[in-house]
Amino acid sequence: PREDEKQMLQAHELLSKFYHHLLLNTKEGQEALEYLLSRGFTTESISKFQIGWSLPSWDFTVKFLQKRGYSLDLMEAAGLLVRREKDQSFLDRFRGRIMFPITNPKGKVVGFSGRSLHSDDEPKYLNSPETKIFNKSRILYNFHESRTIIRRKQQIILFEGFADVISASGASVENGVATMGTSLTEGQIGLIKRLTDSVVICYDGDFAGVEAAFRAGNLLLNHQLSIRVAMIPERLDPDDYISKYGKEKFQQDVIGASLTFMAFKLRYYKLNKNLNDEGDRLQYIEDILKEIIHLTNAVEKDYYLRYLAEEFDVSLEALQQQLAEIGGALK
Ligand code: CTP
Ligand code: MN
Ligand code: MN
Ligand code: MN
Ligand code: MN
Repeated sequence: PREDEKQMLQAHELLSKFYHHLLLNTKEGQEALEYLLSRGFTTESISKFQIGWSLPSWDFTVKFLQKRGYSLDLMEAAGLLVRREKDQSFLDRFRGRIMFPITNPKGKVVGFSGRSLHSDDEPKYLNSPETKIFNKSRILYNFHESRTIIRRKQQIILFEGFADVISASGASVENGVATMGTSLTEGQIGLIKRLTDSVVICYDGDFAGVEAAFRAGNLLLNHQLSIRVAMIPERLDPDDYISKYGKEKFQQDVIGASLTFMAFKLRYYKLNKNLNDEGDRLQYIEDILKEIIHLTNAVEKDYYLRYLAEEFDVSLEALQQQLAEIGGALK
């Protein structure tokens, strides 16, 4: 009921403040703070995003919540605690992790993701489970906080991860949100459409990121959104790129150099193909024709047909004929 949800929200609010305090102001948080600073996080970004630290204790949060009168059963339902099998006792879910509070579209903290400090501590990110108040498919990280800027710029940038949003924000790119590693959902697209029709996908530069960008772009296209894709070289992610090349290059050479979705697809279909091979060349032409056929704008259609004709030294007539055949096969 309502009262339960209120208690869950209150506990999240209280804990996010406390974890943040532990990270910034205590000896227990020092190693985590140094790790974050060494990665390029700043005290400003840590404060702005309320990043915190959960103690490596089995029951610190249990006691913290108990002392303040919260029902432990309810706190388990809120995802903050877990229950031990053997004796049904309560334990902290998040232990010794860098805490990223996650807000709902109204700005209330509804969940956490905790990053491990050491690479042998799996998983890298431990997330709140789905709860009454935390429905990951209807949440985008940083959505509430960036909504005014997204409206003003009439553009939203989609990242994969927390560090990408935070580093971009430090590089004055403040209209970014993150899907938090999962594939884009209808619920998240609904959130985006409340603010703007224009989306820049800026996923990781690794193979998984490029594949995810292709899928997300197609889904967004089905919802009549305008899409660009900002690609990151060298398989870096946006956060790595900013650390390596700096803010200006990120603004200009990544965000500023974003591609139309079709231009992205021209590159996408080249991956895993050897265009010196005749079979691969023909397959590539067919892949692109199958994309061209879905273009609604006649000029755009003409433009890419001419591009193919020139690039592969084939006649426009032959391309148009094959396009008609593909169109016929689709019907
Ligand atoms: N993620 C997750 N659980 C994991 C791994 C990833 O929920 N076990 C989510 C996180 O939101 C993460 C995002 O997916 O930010 C992207 O994953 P990845 O690119 O692997 O992590 P990074 O964000 O690059 O993490 P970092 O820079 O801290 O290494
Ligand atoms: Mn990734
Ligand atoms: Mn990764
Ligand atoms: Mn990444
Ligand atoms: Mn990263």
